[in-house]
Parts: sequence; C-alpha cells; structure tokens
Amino acid sequence: MTKIALIIGSLSQNSLNRSIANHLVNQAPEGVSVEEVIIGDLPLYTQDLDQQMIDVYERVRKQLSEADAVLFVSPEHNRSVPAAVKNLIDIASRPFGKSVWNGKKTAIVTASPGSYGGINSGLHLRQILQSLGAETLNAPELFLSRANTALNDHGEVNDERTVSFLNKFASTFYAWVVKL
Ligand code: FNR
Repeated sequence: MTKIALIIGSLSQNSLNRSIANHLVNQAPEGVSVEEVIIGDLPLYTQDLDQQMIDVYERVRKQLSEADAVLFVSPEHNRSVPAAVKNLIDIASRPFGKSVWNGKKTAIVTASPGSYGGINSGLHLRQILQSLGAETLNAPELFLSRANTALNDHGEVNDERTVSFLNKFASTFYAWVVKL
C-alpha cells in the first residue's frame, strides 16, 4: 500500500480547499491510501519543546515520516502560506537532524476565490520545501482561481473544466508517487 499524507491548509469549517482535497482523494487509485494530517491542534512550535515529549507533535512526525508522499492543498493567507501549515512544517523539521522532509516527495495545490489562485502561497511553500531537501512535483502546477465557483451547494466540484484540471493533476501525482 502506498501511503499519502494529506495536509489541508485551512482550519475553516467550510473550507473550499477541503472540497478540492476531497475530489483529489476520490481519484486515488487502488493500492493508494490517503490520510489527513490534522494540523489544527498543534501548539505553536519552539525549539524549547524539543526536550519534551508532546503527543500531538509525535503523531504528525510519525504520520509524515511513514508517508511515501505528502500532498498539500492550501489557501493563501496574506500572500503566503497559512500559519498552521508553516507550524506543521517547522514541527516536522525538528529536532535538528530528525527532519521528516529531506528527500520526501511532496506536491502542492492552492485554491482561492480570488483571481490568482493562491499562487504566492504555493510558490512560497515550494521554496520552503526545497530548503528542507524535499522533492516537489513540478508539473502540472495547480493554483486554482475562482475556486468557489467550481463547487455546488454540497461542496462537490461540478465545473467540467476544473474537474479536468484536478483529474490531470491527480493522475500525474499518483503515478509519480506509485512509481517510487
Ligand atoms: C485570505 N484570503 C486570501 N486569498 C487570496 O487569494 N490571497 C490572500 O493573500 C488571502 N489572504 C487571506 C488572509 C486571511 C487571514 C484569510 C482568512 C483569508 C481569502 C481566502 O482565499 C479565502 O478565505 C478562502 O476561502 C480560503 O480557503 P478555505 O479556507 O475556504 O479553504
């Protein structure tokens, strides 16, 4: 079984990124499992905490280290990566020498109701992951603008063009991970 850890960068109850992530998860082929990494309950990281055993930190570090790949589906907050996502990245990069990110396969999707699709968040995230030695899927890039217009009242993606973008991304991503 190929394991994918899913990070949804929004803590919002009605997150449109969660809807986009659900669609991508539904495209996972047989033999691939996708499990969400919960990030909303993680205390803000400081290196002082490296001396302590914090259960929720250990939970996410284990989940990420056991995953064959990590998929980020995230909004943009003030032109960058949401604080909760950055906190998770920092937690999983430490203690020094025990980062889970080195050599980890990662992929990035951003979605926004705005015109730019959260591209700045996606590019900042790519830069962060590169500095940590992660490998990030280069193409297709997916920065979904006007994402709210692609969803129906149940939060399902029902716009044909968006479905086509998402499915192309999903098939490339899953094939890239399974070929490990
Ligand atoms: C936003 N939003 C936003 N959108 C964007 O395209 N670029 C941005 O820089 C920001 N900045 C920003 C900051 C903060 C603090 C919030 C709460 C929101 C709007 C954002 O795209 C919108 O709320 C989306 O609905 C967020 O995605 P989720 O949470 O619905 O998945």
